[in-house]
Amino acid sequence: MLINEVGVRSNRAKNISNDEHDDNITPLGFLVSNFIVAFISTIILGFTTLFFIIYLAMIRIIKIDNAIRRRDVVSGTPAQVNGERSDTLETVGTVSRDITTSNVAKPDTSNDTFKYWKRRLSLFTKFEEGIMLDEESFYSVCPEILSVFIANQCNNVKVAVDPFCGAGGNIIQLAKLCDKVIAVDIDPKKIELAKHNASIYGVYQKIEFIVGDFFKLENEIRGDVIVTSPPWGGPSYSRQSVIGPSAIALDKILEVGKKIAPKMLLHLPKNLDKNECLQTGIETGVKICKIENVLIDRYLNSMLFYIRSNNNNSVRHDVHKLLDIHLHNSFHKNERCCKITAYRSYLKNVEKFLNSRC
Ligand SMILES: C[S@@+](CC[C@H](N)C(=O)[O-])C[C@H]1O[C@@H](n2cnc3c(N)ncnc32)[C@H](O)[C@@H]1O
Repeated sequence: MLINEVGVRSNRAKNISNDEHDDNITPLGFLVSNFIVAFISTIILGFTTLFFIIYLAMIRIIKIDNAIRRRDVVSGTPAQVNGERSDTLETVGTVSRDITTSNVAKPDTSNDTFKYWKRRLSLFTKFEEGIMLDEESFYSVCPEILSVFIANQCNNVKVAVDPFCGAGGNIIQLAKLCDKVIAVDIDPKKIELAKHNASIYGVYQKIEFIVGDFFKLENEIRGDVIVTSPPWGGPSYSRQSVIGPSAIALDKILEVGKKIAPKMLLHLPKNLDKNECLQTGIETGVKICKIENVLIDRYLNSMLFYIRSNNNNSVRHDVHKLLDIHLHNSFHKNERCCKITAYRSYLKNVEKFLNSRC
């Protein structure tokens, strides 16, 4: 009895104290406490989301970084590696490169070259008529507006030689104006693409195609002018503010080129050091007569070097003309299908074509 009484009393006391406690919570206090709980939860949630986003961003950055590194290695084309260029392409600006067959990787995916596909009509206006380019050619080919301009400088030339003809951007336009074009490339696949593309432009018959290493052909071919866009080391060349002539083996090109033709017109990177090139000209006994900056749609695109093969005096000639050439490209605005799936299936077709030919 006594215990029960004590129990009942203590329960009553508890109820009284709970009631007192409940009575103390005002609506404002209730709101504030809920607000604090909500605020803290939001902060925790916010931080978690932020950490998650940072984590994803870091994964993405690491992937991009790896892709860039892969592309740096790729920047020497397989052809450069196979040819003698691998010996000479060791330095680009101040960055030392070691390009050997073992560390050359293919570009990551077709994502890397998709942007060039979007501009395909500015590469070849007859692109939709069946032009074939492999991934490397998408970023190597001379845009048509420029290859037309270059070819126009060679009007009345009998035999033009393009020792690095690639998929045919320059030779097609040259063949329209010259009697004959000799087209050389070390990569048999490029020659197959060039043959196919030349037939689309109806100039196949005017071109002699040779698979070979230009640096070993000095006794085999002769022409009136060499017109060419030598390998620049892939798209990564433009990440350097200035590159020296050794980056494109200019000395070797001039040494061999001067034995093949009395004149040369070279399409070269926009960031090439002009003074160093003039020095290379003197050292190799050629005269760089004129340099033109080529601007396409107001953006500096590349340079053209006009060269005479014999400079017997071996003295430095100041380039008496340094001109800006403005070209306007209207085709890139009209590109039609820009889906990456279309680009991938196009590349597969090109691969099939090349497998059936090579
Ligand atoms: C920049 S691309 C030429 C693109 C071409 N002007 C066009 O508009 O289509 C350079 C080409 O030189 C070729 N090449 C690289 N080293 C060579 C060598 N030693 N002899 C001949 N061709 C070479 C590559 O295979 C590549 O196709």
